[in-house]
Amino acid sequence: MKKSLIVLLSLLLLVPCASCAAAAEADSSTLPFDDVSPSDWFYGDVLTAWQSGLINGKSETLFAPDGSLTYAEAVKLAACMNQLAAEGAVTLAADTGSEWYRPYVTYCAERGILLEDYAWNQPAERAVYMEIFSRALPADALWPINEVPDGSIPDLGGVPEKTAAGVYALYRAGVAQGTGSDHACAPWANVKRSEVAAILTRMMDPEKRISFSLSVPAEPEYRIEVIDGVTYVDGILVVNKTYSIPASYAPGDLTWECRAALDALSAGAAANGLSIYAISGYRSYEYQLGLYDRYVARDGKAEADRYSARAGHSEHQTGLAVDVNSLEYAFADTPEGQWLAAHCAEYGFILRYPEGKEEITGYRYEPWHIRYLGVETAKKVAESGLTLEEYLGVTSQYAD
Ligand code: DAL
Ligand code: ZN
Repeated sequence: MKKSLIVLLSLLLLVPCASCAAAAEADSSTLPFDDVSPSDWFYGDVLTAWQSGLINGKSETLFAPDGSLTYAEAVKLAACMNQLAAEGAVTLAADTGSEWYRPYVTYCAERGILLEDYAWNQPAERAVYMEIFSRALPADALWPINEVPDGSIPDLGGVPEKTAAGVYALYRAGVAQGTGSDHACAPWANVKRSEVAAILTRMMDPEKRISFSLSVPAEPEYRIEVIDGVTYVDGILVVNKTYSIPASYAPGDLTWECRAALDALSAGAAANGLSIYAISGYRSYEYQLGLYDRYVARDGKAEADRYSARAGHSEHQTGLAVDVNSLEYAFADTPEGQWLAAHCAEYGFILRYPEGKEEITGYRYEPWHIRYLGVETAKKVAESGLTLEEYLGVTSQYAD
């Protein structure tokens, strides 16, 4: 089957098809187009596709390699290619009038090449073009030569499954290879006439198919999940200027783990003759709203944003953050402030807004604001010397 199909398709190289025909000089060995040069990557493909009669120039001297192709033109090509492979000749012809493409659409729909209607006079998108062409020849004309596992084409998220299946089939057969070093498909871009020529040529001539392989990228180190409007990065709840929590997120108090850890921390400090105690713990969305508004009225928005979170953006709303002892910078130099910085990770806390990291955390230094992460994570973050944002690889910036 493969061999006979190839023989049939190779006829395309010799015989311009009557109804699809275009090439005035089908046996010409050079292109007559001023806008396709022998140094262009697609020169050979355009030459082959033009010689076959499947694809015309836009005029006698212009091919328009960057021009688009309408869905109607794409379906005509698919129909002609299929009929030639199936019957050895192309007898399909266009209708007269504005819906000239109807015979091709009907032919493709009857043979399962087309599964739905498109806006026929609109430019064809790359992924849909590939999908249609993946069915334009019998399946065994596109035998796989490349390792292209599911999930390895980087930008097919959001593309319907049947369309993605067609793209994968062409990649695996070496008929399409995408763009760039990661072989992205650029699924929504309009397919260019130069690319159409390349796909046609590789479908007709297996010698021209491209060998490459792709692999499924490793899972990112950190996984971002949003559950009920709350963002978790690798399981760690993150609230900052980038990631908010809904107004309805209201534990009502510090979580019991955070409260127990704070009690242990206070006890550890007390064992060293120091007194560490909470001055602000859980704050509701509404409370933060009033607090922030008062700071804005006092200092202006830009200044308030440097030290106070907007409602929905405060860690205090999570019940996992505590301000201790004093909201004065001088606290950092007290024995309590120094003990807190040195030992809080042993109890599961980090100093959330370290000195000199305002650009990263979004907030000025707060030697009094600790965030509960659990002992294991807090120690890892503290040992890394990184802010939580850096540790998790996230930003902290308001959208506006
Ligand atoms: N002072 C911190 C940033 C807050 O308002 O949550
Ligand atoms: Zn705080």
